[in-house]
Amino acid sequence: MYSSPVARVGPGTKKVTAPEVRARKGGPALAMVTAYDFTMARLLDEAGVDLILVGDSLGMVVQGLANTLPVTVDEIAYHARAVARAATRAHVVGDLPFMSYQVSSTQAVEHAGKLVKEGAVESVKLEGGEDFAEHVWRIVRAGVPVMGHVGLMPQSVHALGGFKVQGRGHDAEAKVLADAKAIEEAGAYALVLEAIPPDLAAKVTAAAGIPTIGIGAGPRCDGQVLVCTDLLGMTRGHAPKFAKAYGQLGDAIVAATRRYVDEVQSGAFPSEEHSYRPNGATENGRRGADAGDRGDGQGRVVSLRH
Ligand code: KIV
Repeated sequence: MYSSPVARVGPGTKKVTAPEVRARKGGPALAMVTAYDFTMARLLDEAGVDLILVGDSLGMVVQGLANTLPVTVDEIAYHARAVARAATRAHVVGDLPFMSYQVSSTQAVEHAGKLVKEGAVESVKLEGGEDFAEHVWRIVRAGVPVMGHVGLMPQSVHALGGFKVQGRGHDAEAKVLADAKAIEEAGAYALVLEAIPPDLAAKVTAAAGIPTIGIGAGPRCDGQVLVCTDLLGMTRGHAPKFAKAYGQLGDAIVAATRRYVDEVQSGAFPSEEHSYRPNGATENGRRGADAGDRGDGQGRVVSLRH
């Protein structure tokens, strides 16, 4: 144990740890949301999410790609660094992207370590069942907590023939159950269940000693995860059936930006209120930011004057 010169967690704020997540088996339910930048992570953390996932979904959400396959470890680390700076309470999980762990368990340990060192994540997530149990075991032995991910594994989109519900039928159901068991036995602290029938998710949850976190897996999991842009109603075009929007921020962003465009074009913006004092004018009657101030992007005014 060492004392830290950096007060990363504010007074009264305690980080959610991987062992605490594991201990939430059976309740209270875990709420996980994805984030890819500081601003979003700070708002999600303030809202009380337990875990923030820097998912390889960033390929689709941030980069506009058709799938997650091109995402690199460096990209996850870059986004995770920003998210980790904002997460005062939420546990930060970083995804191991396609081909960053599949080659060997040694490659898996090296890249998990890179995400911890360079991305400041507190655990990693990887997709895969029985075939990747050894990888999970090696990463956990190296001191990095691992979250598993079975059912629909988007990194296998080509092998699966598309983003399709998994675990339908006797053999497919048995495969998901076996995958979940193997990943738990390898030492994972939690398990994402993606796009499987709710009755199968309930069976996996009942059989597992670690919390299951569902996405398109029905209500009988130990927690739920959503992609932040789906949760906030920012997704344009097709959103998956399971993606419930708790707000309509996409429409709000378009409406606010339209008002800005209109005011720029009409000359209504910037008004005196949003302009600095003219040279030679006194401070009488003026409020707010002065010529020596600027916003720091976090709602604070930073004085530039010495
Ligand atoms: O990459 C991701 O965001 C994920 C979640 C959808 C579970 O894996």
